[in-house]
Amino acid sequence: MTKRFAHENFSEDIQRQADQMNLDEAAIPPYTVPGPRSVSGSDFLLKERPALLKEFAENIYGEIPPRCQELDFQTVAEDPDAFDGLATRREIVIRCAQNGKARFLNMLLYIPNRREGKVPVFFGMNFRGNHAGTRDQGVRYTISKRYPTLDNSPRKCDNRASETERPMPPEEKRWGHEKVFARGYAVATICYWDVYPDHPYGFNDSILPLFFDEKTFLSEERPCGAISAWAWGYQRAVDCLETQPELDRSRICIHGLSRLGKTALWAGANDPRIALTVSCCSGTLGAKLSHRYMGEDFNWIQLWNPHWVVPAFRKYVNHDREIPVDQNQLIGCIAPRLVYIMSASEDEYADPKGEFLCGVEASPFYKLFGAEGMGGTEFPPVDTPLSGEIGYICCSGGHDFHPVGWDALLDFADHHWKK
Ligand code: GCU
Repeated sequence: MTKRFAHENFSEDIQRQADQMNLDEAAIPPYTVPGPRSVSGSDFLLKERPALLKEFAENIYGEIPPRCQELDFQTVAEDPDAFDGLATRREIVIRCAQNGKARFLNMLLYIPNRREGKVPVFFGMNFRGNHAGTRDQGVRYTISKRYPTLDNSPRKCDNRASETERPMPPEEKRWGHEKVFARGYAVATICYWDVYPDHPYGFNDSILPLFFDEKTFLSEERPCGAISAWAWGYQRAVDCLETQPELDRSRICIHGLSRLGKTALWAGANDPRIALTVSCCSGTLGAKLSHRYMGEDFNWIQLWNPHWVVPAFRKYVNHDREIPVDQNQLIGCIAPRLVYIMSASEDEYADPKGEFLCGVEASPFYKLFGAEGMGGTEFPPVDTPLSGEIGYICCSGGHDFHPVGWDALLDFADHHWKK
């Protein structure tokens, strides 16, 4: 087992837990995957989907907090000549207020200057700050709070790029700016630390104090974890994007890499305004089947990132196959809207084949709506896209959003949106 989290505190005990993960296809114990129980799409939307979302909330993510009492969008900077005139850069501060408390999310939006009518937008959260993902030097540097090292943890600080790290590889290639503009689509992002600092004790600098207190967060009663907080952020981003006059509110895409891919799926499952949901290398609690015991297991999630989920998740640690829901049902909750699943060939922890099979097993939910779901049942060769309402590609390379993935995703969007 390679050490994905190589750091000085990688103790023998942690190594033992890593070694216990199954990475051998031949050693996967027999498993079953739950399918739809409804007879039609309308029946599914009326009863089964709400019941499934409740089960996912109770066992894994917790409920996404409500919208908040006040929401304002203030454009604080605009430049019509970004990317050598290819796009207009707009920076918007989203003010979220509730019960006398306020939090601010900083959105960076690029609108292509060559466009016809209202344009679709590709929104994703970023890990390192808005300025880190773009070669456009004019982007505001948003302040960051540094977090102390936790004993026995690889988290040293908030990991935002400093002022001098513009752009920061590999952040920049995750946005495919020029590729997206060339198709006539807009690009938008917010740093996920604005919503919830990815740290077990990040509560006070997150949006969660708008809704409940820290004591509750640290207790067994915690109503949601960081994934639901970030999903809330994706929803507030959609609220903001819907108000921008150049954008087409019926063609909003959200995407996320890894923990944010898990988040994108959870947000997409809950919010019907999202037309296309993209999960990139999302793995466990994302697009990978949980009942297929392969790759990263629940133990590993709980060990490193207990703040992502609700305390009830603990009862499935080392009992992954007993969780009453599987991730194909989460994608089923997005049906019949569009989904794109991206894997990477060397991302064995995220179980690329399990992500593909999750799309196959989500297809029966799409069939309830007279749709196809994933356009194939054979695991495709690397860099070869599959179409359908659920698209899939396994990009060659490691745990990342690859340029070939962007090309495939944009072809998929063109196919569905430029008929
Ligand atoms: C860790 C975590 C994964 C997650 C990944 C990421 O590896 O265990 O579940 O997908 O971080 O977000 O990069």
